[in-house]
Amino acid sequence: SSRNHVIPLDFGSIQTVPESHVWSESDDEYRYPSGVHSGTTNSCFSVPVIDLRDPNAPELITEASEKWGVFQLTGHGIPTELMEEVESETQRLFSLPVDRKLKALRSPGGATGYGQAMISPFFPKHMWHEGFTIMGSATDHAKQLWPHDFEVFSETMDDYQKQMKAIIEQLILIILKSLDINSQQLNWLKNDHYSGHEATTPGTALQLNYYPPCPDPNRAMGLAQHTDTSLVTILQAQTSGLQIFRDDVGWISVQPVRGALTVNLGDFLHILSNGRFVSVLHRVVVNPVQRFSVAYFYGPPSDFIVSPLLSRSVGDSGEIVARYRSVTAKEFIDMKAKNLKRALSLIKT
Ligand code: SIN
Ligand code: FE2
Repeated sequence: SSRNHVIPLDFGSIQTVPESHVWSESDDEYRYPSGVHSGTTNSCFSVPVIDLRDPNAPELITEASEKWGVFQLTGHGIPTELMEEVESETQRLFSLPVDRKLKALRSPGGATGYGQAMISPFFPKHMWHEGFTIMGSATDHAKQLWPHDFEVFSETMDDYQKQMKAIIEQLILIILKSLDINSQQLNWLKNDHYSGHEATTPGTALQLNYYPPCPDPNRAMGLAQHTDTSLVTILQAQTSGLQIFRDDVGWISVQPVRGALTVNLGDFLHILSNGRFVSVLHRVVVNPVQRFSVAYFYGPPSDFIVSPLLSRSVGDSGEIVARYRSVTAKEFIDMKAKNLKRALSLIKT
């Protein structure tokens, strides 16, 4: 029923994978003919690990952005205690009774709260996953979940978002510099001098994910393949499950590195870099054991006009051709919400 479609399964009481959650090859079609099971992973490759304190970090980040669109970041300065607290608060949220979580259910057409993955409607089967999306301060959500005891959750998530924002802005400046692009073109990045008007703010969201223990992991899908509608996303997870796709190699598992954050690039950076940086295709497979992850998405302000930022150093051997036409961030987000798989090709010049 449609009610079933909106309200997540009560995974706590499930012994076998119901038909609604069984994925076959054809349920996972995207850009590539690689299904859930045929998409055997290639274990000869692993995602680059970059220490932000390394003097060569800027070059390594640029190289990883071109070749992979994803890397693991160490030396990032986010306190271990904060990362652990975010993980334990996420666990505390998803272990609440179902009726309590449903008090914070995402409204139809809404963007925040508890519910299935936003990409669910694009796939014929349900995912082995529960999510919780926060935009801005977590306080209102926390009050719905823990009316008398919301501060720890909201303060932890708010602090984490602040720190993620700072580190992403640092990474974006590094990346723009390597493209020889004047960062002032991204006028919201540095608005210290901006006064009088309300400065436009980047589009950000914090996504908490729970992949319950699965009795039959090979038949279920944690999160189906997609690219992120962000400039940059930062992920934290202690357990394996995340896989990324490389055209020349296939699916590669991202093995958790203690204390590292996984940085993946999204569609907006792909467009701004005129296709030079990879918006990495990724998915999550499930395990017999539970998995939690926390993703922080960072995109341009909704009215920002996204178009390839062409610098003279790009293609000095001839004319530079913009591979994508201009769209506002909001227009592109709406296109993606209507057509997950083809939004990028719709704006190709
Ligand atoms: C996501 O792609 O948004 C989540 C990835 C993960 O759970 O590792
Ligand atoms: Fe994602």
